[in-house]
Amino acid sequence: MAKVLEERVWEALRAVRFPGMSRDIVSFGFVKGVAVHDGVAKVAIEMTTRDPDAAEAVRAAALQAVGGVDGVTGAEIDLRVAAPPSREEAAQRAIARNPSLIPEVAAVVAVASGKGGVGKSTVAANLAVALARAGRRVGLLDVDIYGPSVPTMFGIAERPRVIDNRIQPYEKFGVRLMSLGFILDDDTPVIWRGPMVMRAIEQMLGDVDWGALDVLVLDLPPGTGDAQLTVTQKIPLAGAVIVTTPQDVALLDARKGLQMFRKVNVPVLGIVENMSTFVCPHCGTETHVFRHGGGARTARELGVALLGEIPLDPAIAEGGDAGRPITVEQPDGPHAAAFVRLAEAVTTALATTPTARPQIQIV
Ligand SMILES: Nc1ncnc2c1ncn2[C@@H]1O[C@H](COP(=O)(O)OP(=O)(O)OP(=O)(O)O)[C@@H](O)[C@H]1O
Ligand SMILES: [Mg+2]
Repeated sequence: MAKVLEERVWEALRAVRFPGMSRDIVSFGFVKGVAVHDGVAKVAIEMTTRDPDAAEAVRAAALQAVGGVDGVTGAEIDLRVAAPPSREEAAQRAIARNPSLIPEVAAVVAVASGKGGVGKSTVAANLAVALARAGRRVGLLDVDIYGPSVPTMFGIAERPRVIDNRIQPYEKFGVRLMSLGFILDDDTPVIWRGPMVMRAIEQMLGDVDWGALDVLVLDLPPGTGDAQLTVTQKIPLAGAVIVTTPQDVALLDARKGLQMFRKVNVPVLGIVENMSTFVCPHCGTETHVFRHGGGARTARELGVALLGEIPLDPAIAEGGDAGRPITVEQPDGPHAAAFVRLAEAVTTALATTPTARPQIQIV
């Protein structure tokens, strides 16, 4: 009978969510043990948070959930709250732990920018599709907590399946896909909840059944702040691709992005100039909407490669909004060709950048 009751208590705890997250405290691994004696349930919960209110909310919700279990006459919650490790400690631990997290992924490539809205997600998605079309085994992981894009850009609405405790990535257009958006709720506040999100990212790597991949493309959140820095330290990157637009301000931000990666010893594979030129769909004339060529200049000045130039075209935006990236929608068009060239440049850069160490060896 106690066993049956314990099962019921576990089940009830699976309905208790961590505040602000759509996931429950059992799947986060916070519940360390459940024991029921003479109808009294004792639950041990351990969690890492800096937020005492969140801890208390979990305690109250767990108490209520367990108290409501049929056959349980009393409930005690033994809650231990540990302070999260400092950023340096967390980074060090992550680095020590990482190689085993995704042992079958040969190279992780981050798509980043100093500034928001320059087309990182668009580039990441189409780069992934273009790499897949070239026969590479490709994954795309969206770690943009500010506004995940992969679900929209690939037209995925449902939550991922879990088989044998492994989260199954979606497979669409030849790319294995996963997004923090599938885990974070739409109403999750747009703030950087460091440790929780870090844990989620760790799970996106360790608990997702990526299988063997040649390249895992990461769609990073915009900016060069702490959030990005932590991601770059958490995940063993083979290299970074910096997206910029031709305006001078965007280029300044690209420089900041470069500096950030250099600081953490991640090789920058090169720059992509997005919204580079406008090709008229009617007459084919190329117009330089913004001052064209800034990407090439910045690349020269900073001593990195210009990996590609992507034209500005509403069709590229429409493809993304409709869940069909332009590389899928118009695979033989000029825009897809630009992304195919980018994919080739990234592949070459990975092979030739001496420090683009896939830190993880395929065994
Ligand atoms: N080459 C392009 N031509 C036309 N529209 C584009 C192009 N690249 C991106 N866009 C559009 O610009 C907007 C911003 O692009 P995207 O979401 O890819 O940028 P982002 O850098 O990922 O943004 P964020 O910083 O918010 O994550 C989107 O509406 C996208 O469809
Ligand atoms: Mg984005």
